[in-house]
Amino acid sequence: MSIKEQVIQAHKRQIRLSQTLAKVGYNSRIGKLLRLRLYYLDAFVILQKLKSFLYTAKENIGDKFFALEQAIIYTSHAEVKKLMQVEPQLRGNDLGIFKVLAPSYLLNNPLSLGMNGREHTGTRAVSLQALPEPSENVELLGNLVDKCLATAANKGELHISDLPKMMLVILHQLVFQMSLSELEMTGSVNFLQRIGLISLPNFVTKYLLWVLTAPVIRHRKHLTQRYKQSPKWSSYLETGAKYQLNEHQISNSLFDMIHIAGTAGTSALLGSVIGVLCLDEELRNKVITEVNAVWGEQEILNENALSNSIIINQIILETARLYPPVRFVGQLSQEEGEIDFGEVKCPFQKGTRLVASIFTANRDAQRYENPDSFDIERDFSDILSWNGYEHERVCPGRSLAIGLINIFCLYLFKKYKWESFTEVKWEFERFTNVTPNDLVLKGFARS
Ligand code: HEM
Repeated sequence: MSIKEQVIQAHKRQIRLSQTLAKVGYNSRIGKLLRLRLYYLDAFVILQKLKSFLYTAKENIGDKFFALEQAIIYTSHAEVKKLMQVEPQLRGNDLGIFKVLAPSYLLNNPLSLGMNGREHTGTRAVSLQALPEPSENVELLGNLVDKCLATAANKGELHISDLPKMMLVILHQLVFQMSLSELEMTGSVNFLQRIGLISLPNFVTKYLLWVLTAPVIRHRKHLTQRYKQSPKWSSYLETGAKYQLNEHQISNSLFDMIHIAGTAGTSALLGSVIGVLCLDEELRNKVITEVNAVWGEQEILNENALSNSIIINQIILETARLYPPVRFVGQLSQEEGEIDFGEVKCPFQKGTRLVASIFTANRDAQRYENPDSFDIERDFSDILSWNGYEHERVCPGRSLAIGLINIFCLYLFKKYKWESFTEVKWEFERFTNVTPNDLVLKGFARS
């Protein structure tokens, strides 16, 4: 069956379901079961043909459509922006497009993305306290980045697939002033690689796939206990206590902040920036000129280097537009309503998941001219990749993520060199990280 037929058939199923749910109840036992069935049917296609699914639905159904467990997916820049900035938002425990159905994998602590009310405000306060402002910590960040790159130089190769390990090293140092052992690093990498298991039913993840999940869950328990020995722990505890958060909530939320939000997002974007610079020689030369100018003659990186890295900053933003590490954010509808698909009007219920597709919004021709081409001269004032600015759900790690990637670029082009690189390719069909996963810088060494 062609993807067009698959998408149209899937949407017809969804329309029928919307009418059934209006009768049997969205959260009744049968309603939940029917939704779960469609969730897995659509997820099966989306996992293999994500981009085709989104664009075929957009072309044949419209800018918004039903998918998964009767979620409404919004794809245009204007609607995604409006949706992302609703305040206050009501959240379900979801990770982007996927539902967390196996909370055991996360030791039963919801993701901060899925929290509401006081729990969410408190967790954000702890996150913001834990994340340093890069411009005030340039030397420390520079040393951490340099150490990570030196490890790659010792091996003679920089693998994009090794960036998550570097980010784990850096974020554990920044947030807890602690180093991870080899064993702990393996546990953390496995946790991230198997994160998709959160969307299988809990009994499957916990019992049937025990061989895969038990070591990861053991690792999470161990690391969240170790966090409590950090010199910074008591200050997080003090902040969390103001919002009635307990130790389990604080250590687990910081675990997810470091691993899921911080490591996965920042290493993917850093990999994409490196990929872009490998492919575009003219841009690379501009960056080299900028790096030499802003770094100056000193041995140690100084704080002005960050604020003066204008081109690098624009490259990071444009890369985040074209290759957003976070492709979807979701929330729950606070009222029931009706949605039009051409001639057909469908009811939707209170609690329906509303999903903003950042990936399609960032490439919307109504907002960006030649949306698929790389252009650092664009207006980035309303870029959605970090969920905008100044509202309750904006990414608290935005400034650190951009600062870290900037410092990686400064070090890569001032202190390191490489002889060649392998193929630079982003995968948009299979649901995987948005980064050139197979890229390797060969002959990587200190210059
Ligand atoms: C040091 C790196 C990073 C850290 C520590 C971090 C941390 C976080 C945390 C804790 C949240 C949840 C906020 C909440 O629940 O209110 C969040 C949300 C978010 N982050 Fe980040 N992040 C980082 C990097 C990135 C990067 C590189 C991107 C993409 C370019 C990104 C995009 C987002 C988006 C879109 C959200 C909003 C999700 C939503 O509305 O549900 N983050 N981040």
